[in-house]
Formats: sequence, structure tokens, C-alpha cells
Amino acid sequence: MLGLKLLTDPRWANIAEDNIEEILTDHAWCEQKAATNAISLIMLNSQYEDLVTTLTEIAIEEMEHFKMVHEIIKERGYKLGMQREDDYVSKLYKFMKKDGSRNDAFIDRLLFAAMIEARSCERFRVLSENIKDGELAKFYRDLMISEANHYTTFLKFARKYTERIDVDKRWKEWLDFEGKLIQSYGKKEFVHG
Ligand SMILES: [Fe+2]
Ligand SMILES: [Fe+2]
Repeated sequence: MLGLKLLTDPRWANIAEDNIEEILTDHAWCEQKAATNAISLIMLNSQYEDLVTTLTEIAIEEMEHFKMVHEIIKERGYKLGMQREDDYVSKLYKFMKKDGSRNDAFIDRLLFAAMIEARSCERFRVLSENIKDGELAKFYRDLMISEANHYTTFLKFARKYTERIDVDKRWKEWLDFEGKLIQSYGKKEFVHG
């Protein structure tokens, strides 16, 4: 699925379902961070008109997702907790190339975003297929489709705007790195936990 090297053990969905308030809080903040990341990409790369147009739509869509998760939290009488550090994303961030040319860094930032979208999409699929709560199962199936589209969009822009990075080769390196990284996760009630 999406080229991912390792699929999540479905038992992770049970951990998530047993801690639904926690997972919803973490999920809400994941959506906020995705919106913030899209806005940062717009700020740093405003010369690309189609990228600005599409990432504006993505930023809005991610905040719509935030709103949807927040609505569920409120309907169920839960509280939106504080955001926590996402250890998995921090490790991906460290892997991202920040040296080289401006274009090199831009392309790797698009791949960083594509990687998070791909794994989030996979985690939403695992939730949608394994949790007993019908409302949430449907919710996660819908979001899975949306995040898959974002994944495709980020990869498409990386291929379009690269100047010298071989995107397919570098994407394989991302998939290999992430495949090893994710082995340490799958045991906690976070979207990337
Ligand atoms: Fe989203
Ligand atoms: Fe997304």
C-alpha cells in the first residue's frame, strides 16, 4: 500500500479504540500540523502558482479535518487535550535533507510531507477496518481517501519541480528509512504511535 515497507499490525487499532479520547486529540493536532506544513510550503515557495493554489486547498481541507475531529470530540463529551510531540514525525524531520541547494531542501520537504500522508493514510485504513465503532470507522475511511490524494499531490509536485534530485531514487530512500523507523511503533494510542 502506497509503497510502504511495513504495514501496521491491526492490533494497534484495538489500542487506539481503547483510548479513543487520546487518539482523537492526537489526530486533531495531526490535522493542524498538516495544515501548518502546507502553509509553510506556500510561504517558502510562492513562485510556483499551481503549488500555491493546490496547497491552499490542502491547508483548508486539513483544517476542515481538524474541525471534524473537534466536532466528534465535543459530541462525545471529550476534551481536546494539549498537543504532544510526535516522536515519529520528529525522526522523519531529522532524516529530511536541509543542506544542499534551496531546491534540494524544497523537494525533500515535499517528500517528508508525502511520507507522513502515506503513513497517516495507512493508519486510517487500519482504524476503518478494525474498530467496532461504526461512525468512526466510516469517518476514517473517508479521511483515508483524502490523505491518499494529498500523498499523490506532494509526490507530483516533487517530480515536477525537482532540478537535480532524482525523486524516484530519493523516495525509495524515504520508504526504506520509514520502513525501519516504523518497526519501533504500533504500540501506542497515537496516530503515529
Ligand atoms: Fe487530513
Ligand atoms: Fe493530509
